[in-house]
Amino acid sequence: MTTQEKPKFYLTTPIYYANSRPHVGSAYTTIACDVMARYKRMCGYDVVYVTGTDEHGVNIERAAEKAGISPQELVDKNEKIFRELWDLLGITYDRDKFVRTTSPEHARAVQALVKRTLERDRKLPEKERAIYKGKYEGRYCIYDNLYVSDTPEPVNCPTCGRLAELVSEENYFFRLSAYRERLEALYSASPQFLVPDFRFNEVKSFVGAGLKDISISRKSIKWGIPWPGDPEHVFYVWYDALTSYMTGVGFGRTGEEGDADPVFKRYWPADVHMMGKEIIRFHAVYWPAFLMAAGLPVPRQIVAHGWLLFEQEKMSKSKGNVAYPEPIVNALDELAGAKVGNDALRYYLLRETVFGHDGNFSREALITRYNADLTNGLGNLASRVLTMIGNYFHGVIPDRTNWDSNEAMALEQNVYIRSSASKRAYDDYRFSDAAQDIWQIMSLVDFLLVAQKPWAMIADVSQRLAVGGLLHDAAEAIRIATVLAHPAIPDATQRIWEQLGQEGNLADQRIDQLQWGGLKPGTKIGKPEAVFPRLDKKQALEKIEAMENEIKNPGAAAASASVASTSGAAPAAGTAAAPATANPYITIDDFAKIDLRVGTVKSAERIPGADKLLKLIVDLGSETRQILSGIAPAYAPEELVGRKVVVVANLAPRKMRGLESAGMILAASDGEGGKPIICTFTDEIAAGAKVK
Ligand code: MSP
Repeated sequence: MTTQEKPKFYLTTPIYYANSRPHVGSAYTTIACDVMARYKRMCGYDVVYVTGTDEHGVNIERAAEKAGISPQELVDKNEKIFRELWDLLGITYDRDKFVRTTSPEHARAVQALVKRTLERDRKLPEKERAIYKGKYEGRYCIYDNLYVSDTPEPVNCPTCGRLAELVSEENYFFRLSAYRERLEALYSASPQFLVPDFRFNEVKSFVGAGLKDISISRKSIKWGIPWPGDPEHVFYVWYDALTSYMTGVGFGRTGEEGDADPVFKRYWPADVHMMGKEIIRFHAVYWPAFLMAAGLPVPRQIVAHGWLLFEQEKMSKSKGNVAYPEPIVNALDELAGAKVGNDALRYYLLRETVFGHDGNFSREALITRYNADLTNGLGNLASRVLTMIGNYFHGVIPDRTNWDSNEAMALEQNVYIRSSASKRAYDDYRFSDAAQDIWQIMSLVDFLLVAQKPWAMIADVSQRLAVGGLLHDAAEAIRIATVLAHPAIPDATQRIWEQLGQEGNLADQRIDQLQWGGLKPGTKIGKPEAVFPRLDKKQALEKIEAMENEIKNPGAAAASASVASTSGAAPAAGTAAAPATANPYITIDDFAKIDLRVGTVKSAERIPGADKLLKLIVDLGSETRQILSGIAPAYAPEELVGRKVVVVANLAPRKMRGLESAGMILAASDGEGGKPIICTFTDEIAAGAKVK
């Protein structure tokens, strides 16, 4: 069958904010989508799987400023890290369709979408137009890119809990209020438009309560896609980001209206947008309304999962409670001496948490699952059965003789029941159920082996045929379980497939056509090997932690290596000298390296084009310095003159916005993004005095 003849299935992950590296929470959505993409391919679909990076908005601008690099440099760096991680996790996304929102083709798509909407608006009376200009005054959360309230009163963001910023400017608005009936009609026509149900009900109540128009452009932000014909405005990041789902399949590439590209014609609308629960509203309310206003088909389904909680809260970089996937995968691979880490992480995430609900993430539970389900379960069963076939039948799959017609029939029927249940579970995004059904198949085999004891039967020559039949059926059940488990556990299942003497890629097998009887007697099996070597939990946790510390404190490992080499034997090349857990303390000597001085601010002024920075001239007693400081959100320049501040005097000078900054002013802020409050003195102290 050619690609064009197959039914299509187009699914997407959200595009990830490229302000920092991905963590296990980001990997969760991508892995779940990957399982679905692999499953659908194995059911005969022509699958397109699009992911990408969300590279515009204030939080990117801020993260770049903090890192002292340009926003483009920051997103280039992080986009690479995302892609490397997707490779490590065996994510089968369409590489040529990866969307970066800073790419020219994406800008074209966003502009085409709005132009198309404006074109349709032109034919409507002013009051009915989807897009209009208006004054926006409200509170906006820069971390979640969310308009929190349309009034100027201070309010915290419902998602992250931080104080939302005051915004007041003339913007382009989208008349969302006019879409209530159309959205409600969509929801009743497609009862599965959003799953799970309980989330759909929340959206229906939100829409039922009436919708407010939303601002879809910003004047105060520079880092975004310019509005066509009015470049003072950039697009609101969600209008920009949501359009990525169409950029990926060629929207805006051809034709006046943007939708003429054959790829777009074939794949749009998306079959599934998958995402975490906190961004449902953008996908189930805003996005279909934007598309309706442009006269384009809406996505078929929104699938929402819950959060991975870590230390009781949503895992999130800004809260600091993150675990990274790379250390888990690499530590497990290294300790097992085989490629097991990716399977272990994927399996754990899918099996442990009921998809749609929140779940706890724990490295310890991951290792427990690995040893229990993968080592003892799948791996051990496969190697036991294959070893017996090796020992008793010279490594050749025996005939399926009538070893015990009742037992044989029961096994075949139960395998059928379980595999059908597991397919239904995959179809409904119940990944944990799918895994449990597959593991039930293995329990059936295990139970049978324990009951029949082929290792004892083989001693009796008259039972040889029966043992052959039993082992044939056991191996056949394992073959079926292996095919079914492949979307979730891609690496080890391929190895078991080969050990079963099967040719080609397991990914090319058809799950929808999977039937009992595929294992042919006479097939020469491969060498049985443990696919999931057992791991020592303590050792694994220590190794993961050490590798994680290398990500969180880059350079710490190198620093401890140099300490180690002065105090004794030099570490062997290529071996990590870092201790299992990083030392959380610094010494007094470390602290003494920082030259902290009292400074008096002599003058302060704003820097054109940099709204966070002030240029300060600071008297340090024996010298005056020019220091650029990001305290403009909290202080007017005139307030600072004459104030005593704490200066890091021996910080290497660096250039910001083309100006040199020789030192740093200490300030504290309430959480990331809180206003910076300078450290100062309540009593008299001379400029230049050392702070220690
Ligand atoms: N850029 C927006 C999406 C725009 S889509 C048009 C965004 N990005 S994100 O990086 O914050 O989140 C991307 C995905 O990662 C979301 O599905 C989100 O739910 C998921 N996760 C991030 N942290 C998570 C957990 N701790 N747990 C589970 N998933 C989480 O939102």
